[in-house]
Amino acid sequence: MSTFSQELFAGKTAIVTGGTSGLGAGSAQYLAELGATVYAVGLGSDKVTFPEHLDIRVREVDVTNDEHLMSLYSELDSLDILMPAAGISMGDRELEWEPFNKVLAIQLNGVYRTIQLAHPLLAAHGGSIVMVASMYSFFGGGKRAAYSAAKGGITQLTKSLAEAYAPDHIRVNAIAPGWIDTPLLAPLKADQALSDRILSRTPLGRYGTPEEIGKVTAFLASDAASFITGVVLPVDGGYLVTGI
Ligand SMILES: NC(=O)c1ccc[n+]([C@@H]2O[C@H](COP(=O)([O-])OP(=O)(O)OC[C@H]3O[C@@H](n4cnc5c(N)ncnc54)[C@H](O)[C@@H]3O)[C@@H](O)[C@H]2O)c1
Repeated sequence: MSTFSQELFAGKTAIVTGGTSGLGAGSAQYLAELGATVYAVGLGSDKVTFPEHLDIRVREVDVTNDEHLMSLYSELDSLDILMPAAGISMGDRELEWEPFNKVLAIQLNGVYRTIQLAHPLLAAHGGSIVMVASMYSFFGGGKRAAYSAAKGGITQLTKSLAEAYAPDHIRVNAIAPGWIDTPLLAPLKADQALSDRILSRTPLGRYGTPEEIGKVTAFLASDAASFITGVVLPVDGGYLVTGI
């Protein structure tokens, strides 16, 4: 049984960047299962598949490329839900200048550009933006310097845009996922000692799933959250509440 009415987003249009893999793909599918027309966009779009009965349109879009974004937006008359989830991590190479810039270009500047160029579509009828923050929005990471700088920025951008866009009836919130089982986590999961440490600090004792991010995306994008804006919501199995 579905958590939400299967008609929840009937007639609504959503864009999920990073929708070609991981938690973006999971959220794209979940929104489509609730009736939305979903554009699942990102890199490697030829490798992703979704159930055929869902209205999911896959597009190859690099969020650092304005022409790609404008070409995508030219397909739409209006937009109700935007989830800018495209992201990369380059591990301890992020302390070097080029990798640092590359991660910021996608994870922070790319997110803002995705939103900024979509603003007219969202403002046409009001809408909802669901950002993707991280546990690294709250703590730093010696091996994730650019990633954590970007994700700290995402929390502030969420709050700032919540205020800036409120007059246009656009709500802006963020999910801060804990450790979600996606391809991004593959190197980390391959390190057994690290994986054990993560799971032992997670009260629910497991990794989250892309669908669990999709469910919270649906909630934040729905009318059930009509008075919620500027919030950064951890979805982490309790990871943040544990000290040692
Ligand atoms: N997996 C986790 O535990 C976790 C936790 C917190 C936050 N996040 C965030 O969730 C988001 C998605 O991560 P994931 O775990 O699903 O990773 P993933 O590697 O499975 O997916 C990343 C997605 O981003 C897209 N992408 C990368 N560079 C792009 C670009 N230049 N233009 C367009 N698309 C691009 C890829 O094509 C892919 O669709 C990221 O912002 C990540 O930081 C993930």
